[in-house]
Amino acid sequence: DYTNLNSDEKKNKYLTKRLPHAIIIGVKKGGTRALLEFLRAHPNVRATGPEPHFFDKNYEKGLEWYRNLMPESDSSQLTIEKTPGYFITKDVPNRIYNMSSAVKLIIVVRDPVTRAISDFAQIASKSPKVHSSFEAMMFKDNITTVDTSRTLIKIGMYSKHLERWLDYFPLEQFHIVNGENLVTDPGTELIKIQEFLGLPIKITDKNFHFNQTRGFPCIRKKLNKRPHCLDETKGRKHPYINPESIQSLQAFFKPYNRKFSKMVGQDFGWS
Ligand code: A3P
Repeated sequence: DYTNLNSDEKKNKYLTKRLPHAIIIGVKKGGTRALLEFLRAHPNVRATGPEPHFFDKNYEKGLEWYRNLMPESDSSQLTIEKTPGYFITKDVPNRIYNMSSAVKLIIVVRDPVTRAISDFAQIASKSPKVHSSFEAMMFKDNITTVDTSRTLIKIGMYSKHLERWLDYFPLEQFHIVNGENLVTDPGTELIKIQEFLGLPIKITDKNFHFNQTRGFPCIRKKLNKRPHCLDETKGRKHPYINPESIQSLQAFFKPYNRKFSKMVGQDFGWS
């Protein structure tokens, strides 16, 4: 903790706000908050709190505005932010490229059908007045026609979005996190991420404690400290969805899932 250092002492440690070295660009409801909080436990990582939304919503404010949102870091630390809206926003790859063509990009993906249900549960919890049913949001006319104009659907077409990113960044600059594994085996996912980021391996399965009541892993920053869980907005109860609606969505996403798996060379085991 550097809060008590004076400016000379900060200078000696090269303590300053730096533009991010890595960005968690998506996907919404994939487990992006969990991932950022887990990475924050690493001594060589400094992370923002709230989502900056710089490249999608505040770009006109300029890079210095953005830099100012970053926590102070020393020269041994990586600065990381997460804004899942980046993944699906047209102008963002070009804008990030203009900041740094070397920035590392992290995407947490999850079965797009579960992702859509999770997104729907979030929307319903935020605006209880919206009585729109799941089917009314996902489909046109009847459940055989998926409404592709819906953001809830668009977000899950992962291959389409990644294609736009690959116009600017090579695949090696991306790391794809399996969002389901992040829940069931966070230690293994965290080791892979630390390797990708070139960090010494400091976070392993020893840092996690699976909280049975919540059904999610919680992180111990120090092995002798109490585990810290995310708040109740993460890990909401999902509404019951008619199996036919689920099948229709699965059929819709299947070709996009296949393509995405091929593009990134990873199998996700989604139905
Ligand atoms: P649900 O609320 O649908 O379960 P994001 O942070 O990108 O919005 O993602 C939210 C999702 O993160 C949650 O969706 C939950 O499934 C997932 N998640 C992954 N690891 C988690 C953890 N350790 N604690 C709570 N939620 C976690």
